[in-house]
Amino acid sequence: MMANRSADAESALYCVLGDPVAHSLSPVMHNRALAHHGLNAVYLAFRVTDIGAAIQGLRAMGIKGASITLPHKSRVMQYLDDIDPVAAEIGAVNTIINDNGRLIGKNSDVTGAVDALRAKTEPASKKILIVGAGGAARAIGYGVRNAGAQVTIANRTPETGVRLAADLEVDFLPLADLQQSRIDILINTTPVGMHPATAASPVPDDILSPEIVVMDIIYNPLETALLKAATRAGCRTIDGLAMFVNQGAQQFEWWTGRKAPLDNMRQAVIENLQEFK
Ligand code: ATR
Repeated sequence: MMANRSADAESALYCVLGDPVAHSLSPVMHNRALAHHGLNAVYLAFRVTDIGAAIQGLRAMGIKGASITLPHKSRVMQYLDDIDPVAAEIGAVNTIINDNGRLIGKNSDVTGAVDALRAKTEPASKKILIVGAGGAARAIGYGVRNAGAQVTIANRTPETGVRLAADLEVDFLPLADLQQSRIDILINTTPVGMHPATAASPVPDDILSPEIVVMDIIYNPLETALLKAATRAGCRTIDGLAMFVNQGAQQFEWWTGRKAPLDNMRQAVIENLQEFK
């Protein structure tokens, strides 16, 4: 690993645009990766309310790339020059690449989720139950469906769940009917279990059995009540940093063309998660 160099007049700038971003872990993760490769670049967080103005700023200042987070993932699309087909289909951009002045919108959550799963289990032909029907569920559902999984969406509000299932051309299951379904992989995309209400779990513990792989996208805390119950039940688990780090790794590779140092990126995030332990 090369030493972190200080910024100078030739440094490239990358950033995350969102609101809020004060607690974003993207800067420590990406700066660790940039430093690992000795690249003359820095990554900063900007709290942005007017996303259109911020995109004009990216263009005016030649900023090389940006992560886009809540609440701008959909609204940002209209300001870009090109949207790749995956981002267009799910209707969300979380990555901008500045290709010599052309701003291209992509989505790294899709591959980030599939890569996180693949580190523990192959999704193809598996029965995957996704709990929740928000933006994260849409990106993950799209990714695992295209990876060949048999996907079912379960959601508290049936209309929202039915709509997402229809968009993805997958099944819908009312949350109350979970007991009847056979599952290979369960993925929680809801905020249930997130700090500070950490005792809550999105599904009853008794649906968990040892052959199920359980993934949570919450990383505060890293070991959610769901993952604790899964471990007790003998399941293999995938924590919320897996998707976060993998989507960041994909962004890093798109921006720099270098191999993302996954372990270093995860370590940088863990060092900065202290407050949640
Ligand atoms: P994101 O875009 O980050 O995925 P979101 O759009 O706010 O987040 O989606 C949150 C998901 O978590 C929704 O599916 C929501 O269910 P509803 O459609 O019924 O609102 C689900 N969710 C949030 N709080 C929940 C709770 N207490 N119990 C069950 N599901 C919950």
